[in-house]
Amino acid sequence: MKALVLSGGAGTRLRPITHTSAKQLVPVANKAVLFYGLESIAEAGITDVGMIVGDTAAEIEEAVGDGSQFGLKITYIAQERPLGLAHAVLIARDYLGDDDFVMYLGDNFIVGGISGLVDEFRGNRPDAQILLTRVADPRAFGVAELDPSGQVVGLEEKPDRPKSDLALVGVYLFTPLIHEAVRAIEPSWRGELEITHAIQHLIDSRADVRSTVITGYWKDTGNVGDMLEVNRMVLEGMDRRIDGDVDTASETIGRVVVEEGARIVNSRIVGPAVIGSGTVISNSYVGPFTSVAENCRITDSELEFSIVLRDSSIQGVGRIEASLIGRHVEVTPAPSVPSAHRFVLGDHSKVQITS
Ligand code: G1P
Repeated sequence: MKALVLSGGAGTRLRPITHTSAKQLVPVANKAVLFYGLESIAEAGITDVGMIVGDTAAEIEEAVGDGSQFGLKITYIAQERPLGLAHAVLIARDYLGDDDFVMYLGDNFIVGGISGLVDEFRGNRPDAQILLTRVADPRAFGVAELDPSGQVVGLEEKPDRPKSDLALVGVYLFTPLIHEAVRAIEPSWRGELEITHAIQHLIDSRADVRSTVITGYWKDTGNVGDMLEVNRMVLEGMDRRIDGDVDTASETIGRVVVEEGARIVNSRIVGPAVIGSGTVISNSYVGPFTSVAENCRITDSELEFSIVLRDSSIQGVGRIEASLIGRHVEVTPAPSVPSAHRFVLGDHSKVQITS
């Protein structure tokens, strides 16, 4: 069995973070979303991975390399334009050969991995198996309609009036039968060959398509709140580990990870929280559910329930909560005269001011 991991796409929903970074590399608890996916593929006993890449190919290849850090053998497959998930299967035809495969969307996050699902698929070997999860707004997803016995009877891609709240999760298990289906369909209104339509084609031709409903799922839908929530969930599952320097004037309480090369000076860190290597926290408080990535400076400030990406600094600004801060960001107090906020904000930035 092989895996096909999709790591193309523009990532418009997490702007401005994804203006400068691939959406699959957005970190959760200081680790790229994509890495959790690759780890769970390796855990499921799969080693051969075809990785579909687009405009952000260089960045993805730099982060993932040949896959050996995950125990995987990665073959990169370039997709010239984002022409859809079924198009990705089409161009991976030679790579996949006649093997069964799991297709994994690199921006999807599944708590608890996929080993159980892969085992189940290997055991029963239906023609295809899809995963579903209940979501608040199904219009941002593919949506499944089930009959009373739980059989999938219909799938729709991003419907205006969803027939259920069961969204298609971005992990699909396929036999080679899918290759005929992706050749049979036409592009959708958004100009893409939809995998949703290919699976509908399998259903229409009476193939055995099974579904499993899972919990513990996240994908970026442009909602920073969701991202803070998945970060919280992952941090809650971590063990305490202090590899960096914590001076005697500082305190670390509960499940705190201080990576090697990080320094905590005269500060208080209350877990669950993770502090990346090369980061210095001084005269500050870092509260629960916070991830601070590598090479940041947090000075004379308070930070809670937030994510800070690498190479950013926050200095003397009082308390920050429920925030997502990108890379190379500087947050400082404004000079007291004139009394005004001063900004240099990228396109699509969102700022909330307490005045
Ligand atoms: C794609 C699929 C959709 C699925 C979603 C899961 O959407 O088309 O059916 O629910 O992935 O991540 P897209 O990311 O292309 O908007």
